[in-house]
Amino acid sequence: RRVTISVIKADIGSIAGHHKVHPDTIAAATRVLAEAKRKGTIIDFYVTHVGDDLQLIMTHRKGVDSPEIHGLAWEAFKKAAEVAKELGLYAAGQDLLSDAFSGNVRGLGPGVAEMEFVERPSEPIVVFMADKTEPGAFNLPLYRIFADPFNTAGLVIDPRMHDGFKFEVLDVLEGKYVVLNAPEELYDLLALIGTPSRYVIKRIYRKRDNEIAAVVSVERLNLIAGRYVGKDDPVAIVRAQSGFPAVGEILEPFSFPHLVAGWMRGSHWGPLMPVSLRDAKCTRFDGPPRIVALGFQVTKGKLIGPVDLFDDPAFDEARRLAQQIADYMRRHGPFMPHRLGPEEMEYTTLPQVLEKLKNRFAEAKDYEKYIKPKIKKSELLTGEETHD
Ligand code: F6R
Ligand code: MG
Ligand code: MG
Repeated sequence: RRVTISVIKADIGSIAGHHKVHPDTIAAATRVLAEAKRKGTIIDFYVTHVGDDLQLIMTHRKGVDSPEIHGLAWEAFKKAAEVAKELGLYAAGQDLLSDAFSGNVRGLGPGVAEMEFVERPSEPIVVFMADKTEPGAFNLPLYRIFADPFNTAGLVIDPRMHDGFKFEVLDVLEGKYVVLNAPEELYDLLALIGTPSRYVIKRIYRKRDNEIAAVVSVERLNLIAGRYVGKDDPVAIVRAQSGFPAVGEILEPFSFPHLVAGWMRGSHWGPLMPVSLRDAKCTRFDGPPRIVALGFQVTKGKLIGPVDLFDDPAFDEARRLAQQIADYMRRHGPFMPHRLGPEEMEYTTLPQVLEKLKNRFAEAKDYEKYIKPKIKKSELLTGEETHD
């Protein structure tokens, strides 16, 4: 019997800046989903948050991109946003970009990761949710999980995984997809996904039977192709065990807190720190970027769980290393490569600064004529003077 897992998230406002979702907004969304469960629209759900993002994890029989399920998520976000507005929470309603819902939340603001499959006799899944980063942040860990035998022993020693996996990659700028096979095309795959701001892994399939193995929320980027759309704090669903990577193989890449784009003002590189739900809040420099992993069993469509997988001393060293990397990166202040390159920054004053200084730039060939005398006279060049 086919079941669909839909993880839909939105930032509908948070308490004390972009730090953390308020429990009353979680309660508001929960009421909407509980009613939908009672009516049978969804089979089961779990509502949670990571940082300032409200997360709806739902199971149902309606397939991927169902207008009914997307409409339900929209309704839950709207109710939560109303509470956020009443409480005067910060940036209340920020991701609900349109008042008119038209059957699909893609492109409106919420992020979506959905997969449909025939439930195995026992179906373990891991739901990842990150704050203060972008979907491309999953490129490195997903590569490790599904293509790197130094991470995933099963690629070498489990006959069901030995053929490898197919990676569906989205070119965010062109709005185009390409499917690459691992291990045959590893170097081509890496040539693309090593640029996570542009080439983003969207889905992964097991090669021997085309079973869906993983999906990442990249929808918003897809729909606004051709221009930079900023960060969209991402979520992902990964299936585990019995011919898919083991849960331990799925978590293993996060023992290395790799650098991801996001953090303060969506404009800085910082380490992705694996945390428990308890620590799923953003403080230091609005971060550092954090990721939570929840494990569930999907049983006849019901969500059994969750278990909070990073709530474990086994990830203490990764967290400690993340602090050290945060210290090191922060000491660069406003300098690249801590600050992102100009084309990827979410906030920038560069055009205004350039406009203000427009008349004070002189051609290099005119250096002797314009600049040198000014420096000799220890005068500041003012905006009134022009060099042509
Ligand atoms: C990054 C983020 C925060 C804000 C920052 C400034 O994704 O959400 O780091 O960018 O707190 O927020 P505003 O401009 O709302 O004051
Ligand atoms: Mg926010
Ligand atoms: Mg966020």
